[in-house]
Amino acid sequence: MQGDLLTIITPEMEELAPGIFLFRKYVDEALFYNVVKAAVAQIPFRHMVTPGGKRINVAGISMGDCGWYSDRRGYRYELKDPITGKSWPPIPGDISQIITVAAAKAGFPNFIPDSCFINKYEPGVRLTAHIDQDEVDFDQPIVSVSLGASAIFQVFGEKRGGKAFNIPLHSGDLLIFGGPARRVYHGVKKLEEQNHPLTGNLRINLTFRKAL
Ligand code: SIN
Ligand code: FE2
Repeated sequence: MQGDLLTIITPEMEELAPGIFLFRKYVDEALFYNVVKAAVAQIPFRHMVTPGGKRINVAGISMGDCGWYSDRRGYRYELKDPITGKSWPPIPGDISQIITVAAAKAGFPNFIPDSCFINKYEPGVRLTAHIDQDEVDFDQPIVSVSLGASAIFQVFGEKRGGKAFNIPLHSGDLLIFGGPARRVYHGVKKLEEQNHPLTGNLRINLTFRKAL
């Protein structure tokens, strides 16, 4: 009964700050995780390197028409995986549709992702503050889905340092940053050791973008 009551009084979506929208427990975790497993079966997670040659601690791969890529040649989107020469696995239509619907609820109509970067966090791994700025159109938002272990997503604003706005993200949560929040510095705090029924000690994050 209490659960029903909570469902009634908890809004589906909350605007935490201008342009930052949180949908708690929005997606079917198993559906999304199965898509991740199928994609990883085609192209396994890997650690890319920064243009400066530093190993990126968060392992990742892409789905979609293009994939975010980083190596000595710079940050960019690639139509094919430069290592295997293969196309990235497609974003399944039902997944894409869920993302489009959520984006529309946040005021971003016609958001059709052409790229999804899948990040894998192991305990102890953090994502340093950065801006997502390799996409062509900054009017298009970034839509993020979290699976498995919980983490603290940090928003810093227009500068990298200073006091962060902390957003705890749990499995099934969907977060959108767009509009005035599209080019803020953001990162993820060091992942704590946890045991999640879906992923064990891992956190998986999918960021859907319209890159090209
Ligand atoms: C990212 O900023 O690319 C990933 C965010 C997250 O893992 O929540
Ligand atoms: Fe990012």
